[in-house]
Amino acid sequence: MAPAVSNRNTPTPKELSKQVLETTKALCVNDIENNTIFQPNIALQTPALQALNRIKNMATYEQLFENNRKWIAAMQAKDVDFFEKLARDQQPDYLYIGCSDSRVPANEIMGLEPGDVFVHRNVANLVNNTDLNVMSVINYAVKHLDVKHVIVCGHYNCGGVKAAMMPKDMGILNPWLRTIRDVYRHYEQELNEIKDEKARYDRLVELNVIEQAVNVIKTANVQKGYLKKGYPIVHGWVFDLHTGVLKDLNINFVEQLRNIQKIYDLTGMVSEHNEDGE
Ligand code: CO
Repeated sequence: MAPAVSNRNTPTPKELSKQVLETTKALCVNDIENNTIFQPNIALQTPALQALNRIKNMATYEQLFENNRKWIAAMQAKDVDFFEKLARDQQPDYLYIGCSDSRVPANEIMGLEPGDVFVHRNVANLVNNTDLNVMSVINYAVKHLDVKHVIVCGHYNCGGVKAAMMPKDMGILNPWLRTIRDVYRHYEQELNEIKDEKARYDRLVELNVIEQAVNVIKTANVQKGYLKKGYPIVHGWVFDLHTGVLKDLNINFVEQLRNIQKIYDLTGMVSEHNEDGE
């Protein structure tokens, strides 16, 4: 005899979705414990896990559009002309160069709204001089958007920095991570004196930020912009995932610029600039 199913006991699609998510989560925790969560061969996953993962992936994907509708309503509730203003133009005062890490959302950690900050993110917040992507971002932000501040923001527990500390072949990531290894080589003595591995890792995160900020200062756009307008000022920050705190590394921009221009001057006006009292 089939059990009677009352309407009250029939889960709604939302409840079902929640149940699926919770079951999947439990299975995933189990897989994490058994170290099989990263099983690359889907055929080796259990059919139940495959099915649950598919449902979960679609449920979370569809949720994005639901979130979008809610976000539109919330923005319009605050300001009925919000999107009209947003579409008009952008005049951000800040360029933020940060890590791609999903736990470090640029606008949110600074309490800034859409339109307030121009953002570039990549693995381990690197500023490579041959990276057309970051160089184009700096050019556009400094020359055309006229930003007042350029911020390089790293974060503790950075996977990119951690990977660069491991004696391992990372394939395509090797040339990218080499920049961080170069930072390590530059500060080898200081870093090797730190016996605690976690403390050394944290310090490398900070030193990487400082060196990437220096790389920003090496660009012609920043040097010429500062000579002409007195900005942008380049800053180095580190975000702490455990506390949410943004730590300013207090880079002395003018001093760094002066040091950099001994070799990397791209303005052709450093001596004249110095005579002006700089
Ligand atoms: Co990172």
